[in-house]
Amino acid sequence: MNIPYITIKQTGAKMPAIGVGTFGSDRIDSIEMANSVKLALKVGYRNIDCARVYDNEKEIGKILKASSIKREDLWITSKLWNDMHGEKNVGISVRATLADLQLDYLDLFLVHWPFPNFHPPKCDVSARNPNARPYIHEEFMETWRAMESLVDQGLVRHIGTSNMSKAKMALLLSDCRIRPVANQMELHPCFQQQELLGYMKKEGIIPIGFSPLGSPNRPDRDTTEDDAVDMEHPVVVAIAKAHNVHPAAICLKWAQANGIVPIPQSTKERNLRSNLESVVSDPLTPQEVAMLEKIDCNSRLIKGQVFLWPEAENWTDLWDEDGIIRVPDHYRK
Ligand SMILES: NC(=O)c1ccc[n+]([C@@H]2O[C@H](COP(=O)([O-])OP(=O)(O)OC[C@H]3O[C@@H](n4cnc5c(N)ncnc54)[C@H](OP(=O)(O)O)[C@@H]3O)[C@@H](O)[C@H]2O)c1
Repeated sequence: MNIPYITIKQTGAKMPAIGVGTFGSDRIDSIEMANSVKLALKVGYRNIDCARVYDNEKEIGKILKASSIKREDLWITSKLWNDMHGEKNVGISVRATLADLQLDYLDLFLVHWPFPNFHPPKCDVSARNPNARPYIHEEFMETWRAMESLVDQGLVRHIGTSNMSKAKMALLLSDCRIRPVANQMELHPCFQQQELLGYMKKEGIIPIGFSPLGSPNRPDRDTTEDDAVDMEHPVVVAIAKAHNVHPAAICLKWAQANGIVPIPQSTKERNLRSNLESVVSDPLTPQEVAMLEKIDCNSRLIKGQVFLWPEAENWTDLWDEDGIIRVPDHYRK
């Protein structure tokens, strides 16, 4: 299959314009997830989205090691988990990821969340870390300086962010030495984040779209009654009928039409294949893109309640929707 690529301005490197996710939503064990990576490589994926917290890098590493695909033909992303922010931890964390994935370098290393707040695996929505903190730019920059140093050392080719707001990204862009090449963010037809998406594109930051199908199997802690279901939306279903494809393909074609690199996850060969095919042929018409633009209902699925700090009122405090990063005074040095 002729997968489209996106060229990274700063380095000329080419990122495959679709990847495969490896977060099992606490439901898929590491062996099954590694097997899905094996299937994904077989059907033609060359972009794998990993993360330390997914707890399956060792098993995925065995698949990568056994593969005959040349390293330079693969794009491997991983992410720094929230418990490893800070100058000293970043190098330790990336070395552990590289050892587990059995690689000499990563193509992209992301800061998974912009705060050092973490939760136990499989926790429910009420879990809180008593040491959770809001975003404090000076602290984030200590982590970012260590990320920059990984590029200098050749351990990672590019660095980026995930779950950033416009306000946080603007601060980072004004203070960084090495710019983030990508921001991984939740993006699907019912949650389009058009303002933030436009900002990333204007700044030359590639938007990588997570939960591009609306994450139907996401953890219970990330599920509320009012959440939209992208693959059942009548407009998505009608366009899918017109193209004679599953609604999943329409979500991915929507991502592609909007300059987003989607990273759908699947354990099934049939779905992996059809997801890949959806960005290779039969794009949406401009009319269909316009129809889908109208179904955005701001339905954020991964709200992040488990990352809240004691003074935070609710999950919207994580996302700076009014452009203001709220930090109670006592958190500042
Ligand atoms: N940066 C972050 O904070 C963050 C947060 C969340 C996710 N992510 C990344 O983004 C990736 C994708 O997001 P996600 O896993 O939340 O959700 P997703 O990709 O939107 O949805 C995955 C689900 O959709 C199903 N599916 C896949 N293809 C399908 C098809 N063609 N037809 C019908 N169902 C299909 C899968 O089931 P089957 O196995 O049955 O196909 C799976 O249950 C993750 O795996 C992870 O790598 C990053």
